[in-house]
Amino acid sequence: MTRISVTVDGVQYQDDVEPRTLLVHYLREQLGKVGTVVGCDTSNCGACTVMMTGTSGRHSVKSCTVLAVQADGREVVTIEGLADMNGGADRAGRLHPMQQAFHEQHALQCGFCTPGMIMEAVDLLEANPDPTDEQIREGLEGNLCRCTGYQNIVRAVHAAAAATRGAEPEPAPEDVVPGPQP
Ligand code: FES
Ligand code: FES
Repeated sequence: MTRISVTVDGVQYQDDVEPRTLLVHYLREQLGKVGTVVGCDTSNCGACTVMMTGTSGRHSVKSCTVLAVQADGREVVTIEGLADMNGGADRAGRLHPMQQAFHEQHALQCGFCTPGMIMEAVDLLEANPDPTDEQIREGLEGNLCRCTGYQNIVRAVHAAAAATRGAEPEPAPEDVVPGPQP
């Protein structure tokens, strides 16, 4: 066992973990953060995506590709802490703009890919606050949606970008039509 100290969703934890324990399993099984899901365990689907601080700031990572011991001394944000990311005390229970946009733009069907898709989309906007359709599709290409709702996911990222910039969001679609894969 190895002792790690990690901050997850604003709370500091100190735990003993097996050196081989994956971060996603630590989050789900030791911390009960089951909002982060496992879709493949082979780094293909992106369902397990969280944000983690590293040497170059905070970025998205597929938590099935990271060992829990690699999170020692780092800060992790999961979908469960996203609304409060950046110390969002003023948000008082409100959703993060990306969560709100996914809700309003009908950007989920079964919802299994949604936690990872949202975390990756947040990372995308932190790097590029006003991406094009093509840049969104490229940025999310590591996250798979089996329900193939990509069209509305792209629309939601645009809406979140607009909300973050203080611009008018696009109206929500009246009909949900599954779009082509990016
Ligand atoms: S569960 Fe991590 S990429 Fe699929
Ligand atoms: S909404 Fe079902 S997998 Fe994406």
